[in-house]
Amino acid sequence: MTNLQTQKPKYTLQDWQRGYESQPNEYDYWIDNIEGEIPKDLNGTFFRNGPGLLDINGQSIAHPFDGDGMVCSISFKNGRAFFRNRFVKTEGYVAEKAAGKILYRGVFGTQRPGGWLANIFDLKSKNIANTGILYWGDKLLALWEGAQPHRLNPQNLETIGIEDLDGILRSGQTFSAHPRIEKGKDGKGDILVNFSVKTGLSSIITIFEFNSQGKLLKRYSHSIPGFAFLHDMVITPNYCIFFQNPVSLNPLPFLLGFKGAGQCLKFLPNKSTQVILIPRDGSKEMKVLPTQPCFVFHHANAWEENGEIYVDSICYESFSQGDLAGDFREVNFDAIPEGQLWRFKINLSENNVEHKLVESRCCEFPTLNPNNVGKANRYLFMGVAEQLSGNAPLQAILKIDWLTGKRQVFSVAPRGFTGEPLFVPFPNGVNEDDGWLLMLMYDAAENRSDVVILDARDLEKEPVARLHLKNHIPYGLHGSFTSHYFGE
Ligand code: CO
Repeated sequence: MTNLQTQKPKYTLQDWQRGYESQPNEYDYWIDNIEGEIPKDLNGTFFRNGPGLLDINGQSIAHPFDGDGMVCSISFKNGRAFFRNRFVKTEGYVAEKAAGKILYRGVFGTQRPGGWLANIFDLKSKNIANTGILYWGDKLLALWEGAQPHRLNPQNLETIGIEDLDGILRSGQTFSAHPRIEKGKDGKGDILVNFSVKTGLSSIITIFEFNSQGKLLKRYSHSIPGFAFLHDMVITPNYCIFFQNPVSLNPLPFLLGFKGAGQCLKFLPNKSTQVILIPRDGSKEMKVLPTQPCFVFHHANAWEENGEIYVDSICYESFSQGDLAGDFREVNFDAIPEGQLWRFKINLSENNVEHKLVESRCCEFPTLNPNNVGKANRYLFMGVAEQLSGNAPLQAILKIDWLTGKRQVFSVAPRGFTGEPLFVPFPNGVNEDDGWLLMLMYDAAENRSDVVILDARDLEKEPVARLHLKNHIPYGLHGSFTSHYFGE
């Protein structure tokens, strides 16, 4: 057995850092450097959002979460693929590009030059539109949880402007970057469920449910005590479920200009994480149950089974302010806890929550067949580290079969780095893993990014296709797929 303590890193920090160089250019081209073959029946557009600029004219930003949103689209038709990337032309992006310097403070610590005097009482943060991307009701939306979405033209990715969803969002109202889509049942169309959080000494969660044309079906709000950092949510047929991380916000250093708001979060290891269950029928019977203190950005899935609710989530032992201090490129992975997959079992009649670790390997960005969102899933896919234990960059994709316990890995180590995989079902798929996994990866050996298409049934096979881009795309956040083709 390998001594994990002496295991050598599977990557170099230099390689990893290069994937965080800015990509200031915007491209449109047919991808012609391809290994393998693009499946003829893979038709539609893979959108992905993430920070495109990690510096403004050489002034480094403090954290990738503060980087201006850049959307990529990879459009597939008849075995060919067209690549396009565009910055979201937010007010902040346009102003900073014109000025050639940082003008705004970032939530995760980017400060205007000039020290705290230049930042004191400057509460205007920038809507950077960099986290999620959603095509819904004929609208393409770049999502950022701190403000309203930006609408883009899906055909050319040009920015149309701030979107209020036909008057549903008030000016400045937030709209999460983590919508969940419930697949239509009984001949009904799909339903989009998303949320908005207004936080302070207490917090208000508002849930929106839209039909497939983008028409609002339901809106309901609940108030919870305390500050709430809620990045993600999971749904079941009856509930929207949130984990309220045990953190407090001390806004003083932010108000005084020393730190970004995100750096003023303090993890409280002796306080429980609160599981918040909001019924989707609009009734007021919200339930809040305590569980193991942990920090969660992302949930994998939730489902109801025999009167109990299960939630699979990626949990961090803690979240320290130190995680957001200094230059993110110089991060010491060993000093920060890794994300691990936990399963929570919620019993609503006994009001208790049990939890267990179900995957200890460092992981993030879980995904599954979209037809199983809110229902029990047999298969889960996520980005994982190459090494089996400890914290490290994501360099592989793990498939878990919960039925057999079998694990499969597709790895691009030592010089490749992965991110979020996206599951696209085969047009006539029968089994839950009948589909492709799409992802963007960074190849440090070539200093470029690849679009990788994997056969989700067997990750140990060679990729179906590996599409070499002409350029690199910095590590990104979340993507989505639509069957509409938006290429050239
Ligand atoms: Co996220």
